Amino acid sequence: MVIGIVLAILVFRLFYVPNDFESGERGFMYSYYRQSNELEWENQPIKYLDTGKQHMHEFCIECHSHEVEIRTEDLHGVIACENCHGPALDHPIHPEKLEIDRSREVCLRCHTLLTYTTSERKRIPGIDPKEHMTEYECVECHNPHNPRLEDM
Ligand code: HEC
Ligand code: HEC
Ligand code: HEC
Ligand code: HEC
Repeated sequence: MVIGIVLAILVFRLFYVPNDFESGERGFMYSYYRQSNELEWENQPIKYLDTGKQHMHEFCIECHSHEVEIRTEDLHGVIACENCHGPALDHPIHPEKLEIDRSREVCLRCHTLLTYTTSERKRIPGIDPKEHMTEYECVECHNPHNPRLEDM
């Protein structure tokens, strides 16, 4: 019975585990890997351009300098453009333009009032979405690139 199970596992492994799966010098505990996996990752298309290499808005400023200039570093200046506008991929070639989401949801994922008093998230001012100007989209009143209240 036991031998049968072990045999079944070995047969299964023969077909299931890829040929180039192996353990490195330090044994299976830390350094097992599959060589072709590196290639798979290399071939993954890059979706977000706003990476450490091209920091924050440096890539977008070339064509959208207005949005970058009006940003205040203390408020929304800390948010990457693609956080609200989605992955730029090969924009402006593909896609030619990024679809703008003007819904309240874009803002509420950060500004819904939380009741946890100890959370760092509290530093972001919160509103009650069921009370605060429910008839409108947020961007009809607040500038998403510079939401400073005195500037409204
Ligand atoms: C090489 C120039 C170029 C770069 C770089 C660029 N864009 Fe654009 N973008 C365009 C053009 C051209 C359009 C389409 C014309 C338009 O509607 O303004 C566009 C459209 C958009 C739109 C839609 C505007 C609208 O009115 O519907 C958004 C949002 C946008 N880009 C965001 C970004 C973000 C975020 C980045 C950086 C990750 C970026 N773009 C980088 C050229 C560029
Ligand atoms: C907090 C979310 C948010 C961030 C961060 C953000 N945007 Fe926007 N952006 C929006 C929204 C929402 C609109 C639509 C505004 C409207 O229609 O009134 C918009 C509009 C635009 C437009 C179209 C022009 C316009 O005013 O309608 C461009 C271009 C743009 N954003 C580029 C950028 C760039 C570049 C960055 C980074 C420097 C950036 N955005 C950061 C939410 C954001
Ligand atoms: C990724 C998180 C994030 C998103 C998404 C976001 N915000 Fe903010 N917002 C912040 C942070 C962080 C601050 C600055 C908090 C502080 O004072 O340190 C801020 C500040 C503000 C303020 C206060 C301005 C002031 O004068 O103190 C308003 C109003 C605001 N945001 C509106 C919006 C609107 C409208 C949207 C949607 C278009 C939006 N936010 C989307 C993170 C976000
Ligand atoms: C009809 C205009 C209008 C709309 C729409 C609107 N707001 Fe406001 N918002 C205001 C005004 C005016 C204030 C300042 C007075 C106050 O706090 O009520 C404010 C204040 C805020 C503040 C600061 C609260 C604080 O405690 O400092 C945040 C954050 C905010 N709004 C986010 C949003 C978000 C997110 C949306 C969409 C879900 C939104 N607003 C929709 C007009 C608007």
